[in-house]
Amino acid sequence: MSQSTPTRRTVLLSAALGAVAAPALAACGGGTPEATPTSGEVLAALDDLEDGVATVVTTAAGTPVVLTRSGDTVSALSGVCTHQGCVVRNNGVNLLCPCHSSEFGFDGGVLKGPASEPLPPVPVAVQDGNVVTA
Ligand code: FES
Repeated sequence: MSQSTPTRRTVLLSAALGAVAAPALAACGGGTPEATPTSGEVLAALDDLEDGVATVVTTAAGTPVVLTRSGDTVSALSGVCTHQGCVVRNNGVNLLCPCHSSEFGFDGGVLKGPASEPLPPVPVAVQDGNVVTA
């Protein structure tokens, strides 16, 4: 059995690539956003959400959440693209991932890849005029 020992050059190159990759992932919304926001956190005031318009908000921990108001109720989806973790945005027609152009419906369903999994729902409730995580 042969054993491979990393050379000084290999170690330095790996460290350099890691230093480059981490900020790049963070810049595209990748990395490790918190999967589930803390329960009871206020995400938005109900009056700040336009009826029928998907709005991307961010939790205190930096997790993007897509809120869509319908009257006095609000539905919520993760705002993290299921392809490689970039943050989606409302382009007026659907939810678009700017990294590789995946598109999602306002129900979270995949309309166009490369993402193949829908945006998962986030449990929320309306309490005292605010949208809070449930
Ligand atoms: S990260 Fe969204 S399409 Fe690739």
